[in-house]
Amino acid sequence: MPIYALGDREPIIHPDSYVHPDATVIGDVTLHAHASVWPQAVLRGDYGGIQVGARTSVQDGTVVHCTEFHPTLIGANCVIGHNVHIEGATVGDGCLIASGSVLLNGSVVEEGAILGAGAVMSFNGHIPTRRMALGVPARIREGYEVPPDSWAEIVDKYVENIKAYKAGLRRLD
Ligand SMILES: CC(C)(COP(=O)(O)OP(=O)(O)OC[C@H]1O[C@@H](n2cnc3c(N)ncnc32)[C@H](O)[C@@H]1OP(=O)(O)O)[C@@H](O)C(=O)NCCC(=O)NCCS
Repeated sequence: MPIYALGDREPIIHPDSYVHPDATVIGDVTLHAHASVWPQAVLRGDYGGIQVGARTSVQDGTVVHCTEFHPTLIGANCVIGHNVHIEGATVGDGCLIASGSVLLNGSVVEEGAILGAGAVMSFNGHIPTRRMALGVPARIREGYEVPPDSWAEIVDKYVENIKAYKAGLRRLD
């Protein structure tokens, strides 16, 4: 599995977390307990740091980067879907950053909020606690509050996946 140090910047990977062999982790990246990183995801902590909270999944094809001015801080119990791009942003606990969405520099997604599939949140965007933003550019859906713990089942499933993949993944080629 390609996990790289870059000079003094070295990943800190909790032993109970999981990085799929086809994911790439570089530099100042911290994965907390039961966090998981899936095939073709890239977490590149070269200009600054990246944190992935406990039980958060970073799914296939997602790119997480950071800038000199903005680290990327992802909280616990989040679902970061397939083909997401996060660059120098902060994501609170229990958020869904849905498939194909883009979250750019200085943006903040507060606890329990959603960035919908395919949405683009530009520089310094903000989604308040348990609100949902959709579209390009992303706009808050008025009058809607995300129910608490909406993603608990998916979060649990990905924690189970860690065990299953550690025990059962076999490369056949
Ligand atoms: C954002 C999301 C959670 C909304 O789901 P929902 O609350 O069930 O929304 P609904 O399907 O009831 O749609 C509500 C409205 O929002 C619109 N809408 C829903 N998702 C949208 C999206 N991603 N972008 C733009 N509009 C969207 C619908 O068209 C509908 O509009 P209307 O009220 O004008 O008819 C869902 O679309 C989504 O993005 N799921 C992501 C799943 C994912 O990425 N999983 C990760 C892998 S595990």
